[in-house]
Amino acid sequence: MVERVPTGIEGLDALMAGGFPQGRAILVAGEPGTGKTTLCLQFLLEGLNRGEKTVYIGIDEKPMHILQDARTLQWDFQPFLDKGAFQILDVSKYFSAFHNYESQGAIQTTQIVQDLIGFIKNCQASRVVIDPIVPLIFNQRRLPEINEYIRGLVFDLEDLPQVTTLLTSLVPVGTNTFSQHGIEEFVVSGIITLRLFKLTNKYVRSLMVRKIRGTQTELSEYSFDILAGRGVVLRQPI
Ligand SMILES: Nc1ncnc2c1ncn2[C@@H]1O[C@H](COP(=O)(O)OP(=O)(O)OP(=O)(O)O)[C@@H](O)[C@H]1O
Ligand SMILES: [Mg+2]
Repeated sequence: MVERVPTGIEGLDALMAGGFPQGRAILVAGEPGTGKTTLCLQFLLEGLNRGEKTVYIGIDEKPMHILQDARTLQWDFQPFLDKGAFQILDVSKYFSAFHNYESQGAIQTTQIVQDLIGFIKNCQASRVVIDPIVPLIFNQRRLPEINEYIRGLVFDLEDLPQVTTLLTSLVPVGTNTFSQHGIEEFVVSGIITLRLFKLTNKYVRSLMVRKIRGTQTELSEYSFDILAGRGVVLRQPI
């Protein structure tokens, strides 16, 4: 039996047999502003409060802003940073370097994957977030390399049995897709979708557990709020 990792999100564990399957990679898919980063930070904070080590790998967003925004939710990561239980890694520049390299030849996707996995192993983290899975800078023309990077990353992450990972994917606005490149959703073990849907005169946030391999899930779409101190709080099926 696979161990379950409690998510820390009120109402979510009950929809998937008690939590995320340990050692697997789960995609958190949503359009901009749907709550992906908030949900991911909450997952890490839950681990930190349980005495686990966690890592946030950020791309395209400044770590300082991540911590600032977390504070508005009354989440203070600073003590965990100070004692080394929480590590925040900004790999935007690293990817830019590979982007520049692109003009000369193939992107060295295996090198990127190796470096990320090496960092995660070094930290001895049991919960990892990579937000987003694919940097915006990766050019669609390089689809084969992007696919190789995504497959390699998820494959190697899932080789680490103690590490449960959330990867976010950007859903292009107005589409019914799960990601930018259309491969992310197939390689991961699970998908959580976040959405804003329109009621008569306002939008409501919603979440659905779209797939978790080897797990019975409830396929209802739940409305949720984002509240200071509590983060993502599931309400009722819509
Ligand atoms: N302290 C707070 N209280 C209530 N709502 C908040 C608070 N902080 C953020 N939010 C809401 O959460 C929303 C989602 O933010 P979040 O950064 O998690 O989304 P995201 O899906 O990661 O966005 P992006 O695609 O831009 O990375 C914000 O637009 C904001 O409305
Ligand atoms: Mg975000």
